[in-house]
Amino acid sequence: MLTVTAAADDPLEIDADLLVVPVFKGGIEGPGTAAVLAALGMPALPVTPDFRGDIGQHLVLAAPGLRVAAVVLVGLGRMDATDAERLRRAAGVAARAAAGVERVATTLAQVHAGASAVQAVAEGFALGAYGDRRFKGNDDGEASRLRSVVVLGPSGLLEEARAALARAAVYARATILARDLVNLPPGHKRPPALAAAVRDAVGGACEVTVKDEHDLAREGFGGLLAVGRGSTAPPRLVELRYRPPNPLGSVVLVGKGITFDSGGLSLKRGTAMATMKSDMAGAAVVAAVCSALADLGIRLEVTGLLAVAENLPGADAQRPDDVVRIHGGTTVEVRNTDAEGRLVLADALHYGAALRPDAMVDVATLTGSAVTAVGQLAAAAMGNDDELLDALEDAADVAGESLWPLPLWPDLERLLDTPVADMNNTGEGAGGGAIIAGLFLRRFVGDVAWAHLDIAGPAFLPDKLAGHYLPAGGTGFGVRTLLAWLERRAE
Ligand code: BES
Ligand code: MN
Ligand code: ZN
Repeated sequence: MLTVTAAADDPLEIDADLLVVPVFKGGIEGPGTAAVLAALGMPALPVTPDFRGDIGQHLVLAAPGLRVAAVVLVGLGRMDATDAERLRRAAGVAARAAAGVERVATTLAQVHAGASAVQAVAEGFALGAYGDRRFKGNDDGEASRLRSVVVLGPSGLLEEARAALARAAVYARATILARDLVNLPPGHKRPPALAAAVRDAVGGACEVTVKDEHDLAREGFGGLLAVGRGSTAPPRLVELRYRPPNPLGSVVLVGKGITFDSGGLSLKRGTAMATMKSDMAGAAVVAAVCSALADLGIRLEVTGLLAVAENLPGADAQRPDDVVRIHGGTTVEVRNTDAEGRLVLADALHYGAALRPDAMVDVATLTGSAVTAVGQLAAAAMGNDDELLDALEDAADVAGESLWPLPLWPDLERLLDTPVADMNNTGEGAGGGAIIAGLFLRRFVGDVAWAHLDIAGPAFLPDKLAGHYLPAGGTGFGVRTLLAWLERRAE
């Protein structure tokens, strides 16, 4: 990951390869921009049809006579509407434009006074420079070469800026951990391998316990076992424990960790099966969040539960019509083996509720219906506690992520009925699939304050939705929202 530092230098004196300066909509120069243009002998801003200072736009200028080789003008949109998220996006655009150089300096953070601007700019650069090169040859020229970014600001605010940069580095590192786990090919992260990868990545930051298939059988985790049966790689429940001294409260985070979702015997069609390596994104988010708690000094006891299984149609796979006994004893008639996420989450939620946390949040790529409802740039949020949902929405706002509420209509509960077991796993054919999945999960949380984030859309993006600091593929969506929520909750 690139390094971001703060300095109070004059942008015209700084030793870097490239200088990034802001421009507002309509060609209004942002901090430092007029001086840089003057040094380039440009009395006015080159406002072209391709660059009007809109958010998402940029313009590269050669910089003869300056210490830097080039200047990048980045658009920030309307001057009266700039916020942290616009700075984060502008920084992401700049990071992409700077992929060919190593050292960047920028005056972007001077647009706003305060730590949140510095944090947003640093996050935008770190996340915008991300690319997954693990399975690419060295001679392939796509990786970002960007190594360092200097955030220029007034000298009086350097202390504050450094604290903000430290926080940004933690947020970005955690987000990138989640992206890397999601982007890993499914054959490289079958359940025991994913559990081992999480232990490697998070073991320094919290206590890691892994329940294997024997533990799961002894302790009654029937959902995980049923889903995992069709694969030769057995399921795992990964427990992450973060215990700070003198905690102010306790939280359980649950992540769906289907390392590949073929649908099982209710096999997905080919086009729907592609990208299903991302079906463990919830687990990746929870692992990434746990990896960052100590660095942020969060004074909450946090338990992360990763429900990890591979949903394949092997000879011993669970069948439609099978009945599964979830942790705690509730029986579920499996009508469709492709509604597997709720089976593994039910186990983990019931187990998590028994820990009696103050709040529990699950994160899951749970339904195509959530994608239909809110699109791929937001998560659908549901739960049994309005205060918790409001707090998560506020945190998402700060983090630059979007949650959109869906109602858990009580009248739809009856779709979960079945004559053969306590409930069925689809509530099929009557619409509202994301809501029905939420209603299903709610039955396993008891009276614990609980929220469910269906990240099926934003966890993994197609090329056409990638841009600024969001890559195609794994995004790490949810990591920064949950970190911001935990930080605020522990204040
Ligand atoms: N993992 C999928 C949901 C999903 C779909 C995630 C698209 C990301 C993108 C989940 O396990 C699933 O298959 N859900 C079914 C449930 C249905 C069979 C009741 C769905 O949403 O179609
Ligand atoms: Mn499925
Ligand atoms: Zn799934």
